[in-house]
Amino acid sequence: MMATRAHPQNTDSSPLSEDTAALRFCSDFVWGVAASAAQTESRNGRGPSNWDALCNDRGAMLDGSTNALCTQFEDLYPRDLELLAQAGVQAFRFSIAWPRVQPDGPGPANAAGLAVYDRMVDAMLEKGITPWPTLFYWDVPAWAGDFRQREICQRLADYAEIVARKLGDRVQQWIVLNEPNSVALRGYAAQVHAPAFNSAEAAYAAIHHQNLAQGLAFQALRATLPGGHRIGTTVNLQPVRAETNSAQDEQAARMVDALWNRAFVDPLYGKGYPRLAAGLIAPYVAEGDMELIAVKPDFLGMNYYSRIYVRQAADHVLGIAQGQAPRHLANTDYFHVEPDGLTEMLLRLHDEYDAPQLYITETGFAMPDPQPRDGVVDDLGRIAHLAGYLKAAQAAHAQGVHLKGLFYWSATDNWEWAQGFAKRFGLIQVDRATLARTPKRSLGYFADCIRHNAALDAPQT
Ligand code: FCB
Repeated sequence: MMATRAHPQNTDSSPLSEDTAALRFCSDFVWGVAASAAQTESRNGRGPSNWDALCNDRGAMLDGSTNALCTQFEDLYPRDLELLAQAGVQAFRFSIAWPRVQPDGPGPANAAGLAVYDRMVDAMLEKGITPWPTLFYWDVPAWAGDFRQREICQRLADYAEIVARKLGDRVQQWIVLNEPNSVALRGYAAQVHAPAFNSAEAAYAAIHHQNLAQGLAFQALRATLPGGHRIGTTVNLQPVRAETNSAQDEQAARMVDALWNRAFVDPLYGKGYPRLAAGLIAPYVAEGDMELIAVKPDFLGMNYYSRIYVRQAADHVLGIAQGQAPRHLANTDYFHVEPDGLTEMLLRLHDEYDAPQLYITETGFAMPDPQPRDGVVDDLGRIAHLAGYLKAAQAAHAQGVHLKGLFYWSATDNWEWAQGFAKRFGLIQVDRATLARTPKRSLGYFADCIRHNAALDAPQT
């Protein structure tokens, strides 16, 4: 077992121009990368999951791939960690696969499955990288059911406790859920993600049951972990805009803000469900639930990619559809580019939830990268977008937001859910045929930012 290594503070004092010095982050800022088990690990050695079922049902994802192998991270992570450590990356937000820990049913863990994470955590610590595990990152073991049912809440909390008992002596930073809003709305109402339901009621149930599972998991972790730990959670937070200024679209925007953003963050801080959503979710709420959910996390993780544009749509189960973003916005291969939305959301969280400790637990850019030349992938476009987002994050820090870290999505190219491998977000390229890893130029830019603890300008050529 490895002892936890304290992380050196960001004390770089190399000469920076006055402008660059103004772009520094706080001295205990954490520079990390993020990834998830379901998008990087193979199916080997774990039980069947909800995402396996979706792949099997559809035959394949949009690019013809499945999640059978992903990047085989559970075996090949030493190479990834080596490249990340060389770049000075300080923290790795990875996830634990619930179907690996409890493959066949409730009760004691599968020892071999849990040992995978035991080794992974030790390997990170050996490289001076702080492990930031996410406990629930969308992969549900087939036996555990789904979030329409209340029973899954305690199951998830029991699993969280098993992991905490195993890793709690070395892991201090814990993230309970990843983007429960994506799960509820994309998975239970929009059929895009597992379990691919198309029902408003299923989505409302999934909102509440994920919040409740999270409350129970916080309780279990707080009772189990030794002192010194910090427990947070993440939500995909997006400022919402109406596609047009019609009264219907404006109403749709308020509704999406309630269901996508507020229904997850408000109850965490004891504010209950937002007025527009409360009546819809009420049938699933039992006495005492809201107190359990109001855990006041040690930190809030925000995943941010872009704003969201919406319109009213009578033919959709929620009466709302994704709208057109303004045409002037630049696009990546997946999302449009809106750094100012990042500043906007950070300021809002600061103002509305009593200045919490905030981490950007994901942000990143999918780009069609060139082939490696001389051992490097030249991805200047990604660097330009990243520089813009880092500056937007720094602008919030400069206005007093307690922004404590940023995790780039993703460490390597990986399996982007329903999109398959077509969307490449990594700082490290993964060759689809050989799974060989090649650093991209953006990893070097990220390394420079880490060294200066600042949002540096993007190189021009
Ligand atoms: C986020 C997910 C992450 C990845 C990125 C691109 O919403 O949390 O797994 O898919 O989008």
